[in-house]
Amino acid sequence: MAFINENYLKLQAGYLFPEIGRRVEAFAKTHPSTGKRIIRCGIGDVTEPLPAAAIAAMHRAVDELGRRETFRGYPPPTGYEFLRNAIVKTDFADFGLKIEADEIFVSDGSKGDCGAILDILGAPGSNRIGITDPVYPVYVDTNVMAGHTGPVNNAGAYEGLTYLPCTAENGFVPAVPKEKLEVVYLCYPNNPTGAMINRDQLTAWVKYALANDAIILYDVAYQAYIKDPGKDLPRSIYEFDGARRCAVEFHSFSKDGGFTGVRCGYTVVPKELNGTTRGGEKMPLHGLWTRRWSTKSNGVSYPVQRAAEALYSPEGRKQIKGLIDHYMGNAKILREGCQSMGLEVYGGVNAPYVWVACPDGLSSWVMFDRMLEQANVVITPGSGFGSQGEGYFRISAFNSRENVEEVVQRLKALTLQPA
Ligand code: MLT
Repeated sequence: MAFINENYLKLQAGYLFPEIGRRVEAFAKTHPSTGKRIIRCGIGDVTEPLPAAAIAAMHRAVDELGRRETFRGYPPPTGYEFLRNAIVKTDFADFGLKIEADEIFVSDGSKGDCGAILDILGAPGSNRIGITDPVYPVYVDTNVMAGHTGPVNNAGAYEGLTYLPCTAENGFVPAVPKEKLEVVYLCYPNNPTGAMINRDQLTAWVKYALANDAIILYDVAYQAYIKDPGKDLPRSIYEFDGARRCAVEFHSFSKDGGFTGVRCGYTVVPKELNGTTRGGEKMPLHGLWTRRWSTKSNGVSYPVQRAAEALYSPEGRKQIKGLIDHYMGNAKILREGCQSMGLEVYGGVNAPYVWVACPDGLSSWVMFDRMLEQANVVITPGSGFGSQGEGYFRISAFNSRENVEEVVQRLKALTLQPA
């Protein structure tokens, strides 16, 4: 009989969002006639149709594939030049940042890349890995699967990971640690807290990484939601001196172009970024990541890459802005609705997530149950993102305006008794 990867047995019951989905389905089955429809503000999944520019580009691409003269077979494993060039120009060069087209690796989304990057980093036990708490669960679970952790304790913390607490006191941005880490995951605008990092804080992290020969895995899936990028708020880690030597950056088209179902994103691996062999020899990660991609993938489909390219056209930019304005309008309504109830509210300004302290000492899952049972609203319990998330819940602003307004009405009608 084949042996299994026993690291999977260390994972906590289910991935957070399927677990929430299971609970909601069970509730819907046992309460078929509550009279109110269930409104889902749990997973951050977009609700609005794709930008028209992307749809037209996909149609054109499919037609090309249907004609012998314009047919294409395998795509280049790391992305077509047309898309990589559009990315370089619009996301980097236009902001004065130096990234080359072959440092862009087009993929089916940043979630996969955040896990896959472990393929080219050291074997279990070699790297000390820093993870913010609360955190996007993918960073933790992929490390568990790869065998980089021991078992989980009662508080939900895995042996072998270094947790960096993100609390209301530190604005949900961890200070650089005293100890040495080799790999650190950071995500700003942050999922789940909706917090943003400022230039001083990110400068400190880049300096830490350079001083400690560490790599920052910087996730900017929500970059398009930064309200006022520039002077105070960084869009990209490559705005900082030395970041090309210490950072990988993950981008997604899911949350700006609405590509959660289409699937496309990209990862930047600069050529100056080195890791080390156990013998102490410096090695560029760029070559390893290229090798990994060309072996394990045949890349992203042509129509999808043409759709992603169309997001960079003038019409595409305008249509993305319309989507962001819509979701951020929702975030404002949710934020202000919760504030008017006297709740302690964070996020929702530079990110489509509103992070709320549970009232009266309720735990995150009790709050989840009450919201589901009394308001028929699905939220995400903060403890699902880590022990520091206990006592909080996250409301996603990805929804229709009508649903968001209804959510606020239902929340106001809630009677929240102490635990
Ligand atoms: C979330 O709700 O945290 C996100 O939708 C998850 C994801 O982007 O994979």
